[in-house]
Amino acid sequence: MDLEKLLTDRLAPAFAAVAGGPVDPVVRRSHHADFQSDAALALARQLGRPPRAIAEEVRQRAELADLCASVEVSGPGFLNLTVADRTLGGLISALAADPRLGVPVVAGPETVVVDYSGPNVAKEMHVGHLRSTVIGDAAARLLEWLGHRVLRANHLGDWGTPFGMLIEHLVDLGEAGAARELSMGDLDAFYKAAREKFDADAAFRDRSRLRVVALQGGDPATLRLWRLLVTQSESYFLTVYELLDVTLSEADFRGESSYHDLLAPTVDELDRLGLLRRSDGADCVFPPGSVGRDGEPLPLIVRKSDGGYGYPATDLAALRHRTGTLGATRLLYVVGLPQRRHFEMVFAAAEQAGWLAPPARAEHVGFGSILGPDGRMLRSRAGGSVKLVGLLNEAVERATALARERNPELGDAEAAEVGRAVGIGAIKYADLAGDRRKDYVLDWERMLSLDGNTAPYLQYAYSRIRSIFRRAGVAARPGADVAPVEAAERALAFELVGFPAVVDAVAGSLEFHQLAGHLHRVAVAFSAFYERCPVLRADGPVRESRLALCDLTARVLGQGLYLLGIRTPERL
Ligand code: ARG
Repeated sequence: MDLEKLLTDRLAPAFAAVAGGPVDPVVRRSHHADFQSDAALALARQLGRPPRAIAEEVRQRAELADLCASVEVSGPGFLNLTVADRTLGGLISALAADPRLGVPVVAGPETVVVDYSGPNVAKEMHVGHLRSTVIGDAAARLLEWLGHRVLRANHLGDWGTPFGMLIEHLVDLGEAGAARELSMGDLDAFYKAAREKFDADAAFRDRSRLRVVALQGGDPATLRLWRLLVTQSESYFLTVYELLDVTLSEADFRGESSYHDLLAPTVDELDRLGLLRRSDGADCVFPPGSVGRDGEPLPLIVRKSDGGYGYPATDLAALRHRTGTLGATRLLYVVGLPQRRHFEMVFAAAEQAGWLAPPARAEHVGFGSILGPDGRMLRSRAGGSVKLVGLLNEAVERATALARERNPELGDAEAAEVGRAVGIGAIKYADLAGDRRKDYVLDWERMLSLDGNTAPYLQYAYSRIRSIFRRAGVAARPGADVAPVEAAERALAFELVGFPAVVDAVAGSLEFHQLAGHLHRVAVAFSAFYERCPVLRADGPVRESRLALCDLTARVLGQGLYLLGIRTPERL
């Protein structure tokens, strides 16, 4: 149990009695004692009594004797709470004995669909897809660890009008030639070349239009060529996933095309429900709450004037399928913030249609952009979109070089493995350690640094602990009692005890910077502890207790980083 919460629960009734109504005791960690409650100050104004007198009365009323070694009124009216060593020891020992580190499996598991990554066929994955992949994978890992049934949905852009020109371009190149070009991962070049022909050549345009019709009509020869394009791109995406070390696999591809047969029934149902309106020749829904700048309701186009269905209709069909057929009650869409309006409208329309009703709910897990060192959208030198594989390889190369430099004893294979874990970890962590709604600057020096709120810093802390156990010649010892006494070991224990509450909060908010920040505080507290409290040089029960604390720290760091999708090598 979370200590803040435990203390809050004890203080709240005492405050309530003094104030004659509910009061939040506002308990937080403090430098003066272990915890501090500030509520008496605000209450003083309200009650017109001196804050110290209020604090004193609360002190006398609150039942804290079993938890705290001392409770004191200090300064203008703070309550300083010092937790008893045996209380902290009991909590931390229970955590150490628990293979799940105090995080229970949820009592009511849900079916959760995590819609993430979603790159587009025959187009380079851009950094927005990188963010979606990294954040979505962390969400999938976390919710799965908590015991939910997680369905990963990779909503690939694999359908629509551009496929007419892409298929015709493929035909021009010949299948073998096209396959070669696509397998090099040069998807943008392929797309651009098709686009240029489409813009310049009227005959090509006509062929492309006919192709779209053939594709939508299910012409087998056309479908085969389309499949070829999709498969080539999918295998490219899979190399990126492999390199990125994410849990997405081939089985999770749920491209837009997979909802093809559901589009007409979905739109028909909207029609039956009386939600369709004709606007400029297209069939639209006008979900409540979405208005344009002129105050007019905004349309969500579900069937275009040519009878085709687009992105919004596909998302409606997918949503209806996810709640109705898959039985999902939590739908996550990990997609950049520019699509916020789209999702607002899709969710509102789905609510109107009755496809999204409690307990089912949908969340747009939005995020900002990755910026280059110049503070503008990340671009390649040539000004095009940055190739993701290039970016990832650069991270691994830089990290491998640093690993060799720092530890010349590493063999080639180990250096490569460490370089991969650290390089990819650094990229992912940089993405997850800040508020996801904000943009952030890709800064190699900073994210690969062994100091600061970085993956390498946390990986280093982990590997240091592993090396303690190697030197001790003992295996880790989960389950041994921990009795923190020194200030630095108590501080570390307080951080560790906070892990379950952080995990719980992040499962709701999907704000992974809270978890990252927590792990960073754990690592900082560990480093202070390790500086001040001898472990291997201590004797008897103190040594045992400290080893157990080290072991627990490594397990929390290891599990926390696992949830963020980051590996923890045994040595750096
Ligand atoms: N393919 C889309 C894009 O690149 C992302 C798909 C997001 N998922 C969804 N269900 N719309 O922008």
